[in-house]
Amino acid sequence: MSEGICLGPVAEIQDPGSKGYQVGEQQLFAVRSRGAVFLYRNRCPHLGIELEWLPDRFLDHQNQFIQCSTHGALFLIESGECVSGPCSGQFLEAVTHEVRDGQLWALL
Ligand code: FES
Repeated sequence: MSEGICLGPVAEIQDPGSKGYQVGEQQLFAVRSRGAVFLYRNRCPHLGIELEWLPDRFLDHQNQFIQCSTHGALFLIESGECVSGPCSGQFLEAVTHEVRDGQLWALL
């Protein structure tokens, strides 16, 4: 397996909060919640477009769900499953990752 791509310090992501990343042509975003980190491709399963409504803002106002800004689909932070909206039952594409020495690595 490749060593992966370092996305930067986990501490740069608020908890709860989110942060977007551009890795070459790929767009990813991370969510921190209750000390855990989740990493997904920034692509709504509904129309395949980016999710955020402002830079680094991928969560709803209560920081309970990932929210697509276009049609309001809500996704579980932990699994990426859409639980409300036009793509209900579909999933965000999770990206394998790990935290090493406080740095978030995407294992693409
Ligand atoms: S593009 Fe995300 S809900 Fe329609």
